[in-house]
Amino acid sequence: MDLRELVEESFRGRGLTPGREDLEAVLRDLVRWRGPEGADRILRTADGSLTLLSGAFGEPYHSVSAGAVRECLHKFLAPSGLLNRKGRVRILDVGFGLGYNVAVAFYHLRKRDPSLEIEVVSLERELPARIPVLPEPYREAHRKVLSLLPSGEREGFRIHLLMGDARQSVSSVRGFKAHAVFHDPFSPYRNPELWTLEFLRKVREAMDPSGVWVSYTSSLPVRRALLDLGFRVGGSAPLGRKRSGTVATLRGDPPPLSVGEKVRLRKSPYSVPFRDPDLREDPLRILIEYRVSVLLREKEVSSEGEREPPPQSS
Ligand SMILES: C[S@@+](CC[C@H](N)C(=O)[O-])C[C@H]1O[C@@H](n2cnc3c(N)ncnc32)[C@H](O)[C@@H]1O
Repeated sequence: MDLRELVEESFRGRGLTPGREDLEAVLRDLVRWRGPEGADRILRTADGSLTLLSGAFGEPYHSVSAGAVRECLHKFLAPSGLLNRKGRVRILDVGFGLGYNVAVAFYHLRKRDPSLEIEVVSLERELPARIPVLPEPYREAHRKVLSLLPSGEREGFRIHLLMGDARQSVSSVRGFKAHAVFHDPFSPYRNPELWTLEFLRKVREAMDPSGVWVSYTSSLPVRRALLDLGFRVGGSAPLGRKRSGTVATLRGDPPPLSVGEKVRLRKSPYSVPFRDPDLREDPLRILIEYRVSVLLREKEVSSEGEREPPPQSS
């Protein structure tokens, strides 16, 4: 089936026949969100560190405009609150990728407290053929993390890399209660299967009640899903982009969202979660179902006289 037929099928599944304009509006967003595919290649980011452009996802592993290391520090480690923990820290790392988030966290946590016990569970489907090593002062920490893969322990640092689709491997993380979740798949519109209500519910089950979930995204469907799952949702400081990342907690208050962001979360037709009831859905179908739901909500909203521009892909 081609894309048009898949979209028509989604409408039919809801007992509807789409008009031409509605169909075109849905198709336009889907084509834009999916983006180009190509070959992997190495890129230099704004802070001088390297990253990889994923050919399959048409997106870099880290923000090129913010800098890969700065993104690890400001979108993940700092808002996670891990630097204030004592004794032992447990991290659930969704999307190990190049291992930068883990290595940067390891370096700074160890520097602050050399006796800290650090335990990491990473979920990853496919490691890239070549991983650029982080620059100083992170080089040694990064090499150490990579040398312990897939599982290993040295001097109070333990890592366990679970290879495969995170939607399934997350269920084997029993008994591990994360103090922080580094949620770092590719962007929601490119990698929707790791941003659904159902997957985030699984992630929540793997969190300690005092845990903090952090991500670079400010995406409405993601924040909506977190709220629906009972998280308190806030924002991390903006970095090289107009909007903030997301911090979500189960208890304790995250840094507040702006008034504008709260209004968008309440009113925008795009504020509806991605769905994947059996955690096996094809990513394209997740996007189609989402976009058709948005269209139906848009119609309700526009009949009340409001309009919302479609979101960008991250
Ligand atoms: C943005 S990169 C992660 C960057 C990484 N956190 C780092 O600091 O280097 C996203 C990662 O998610 C992985 N990924 C995407 N879909 C996945 C899935 N369904 N299951 C497991 N991993 C997945 C990709 O292979 C990729 O390595």
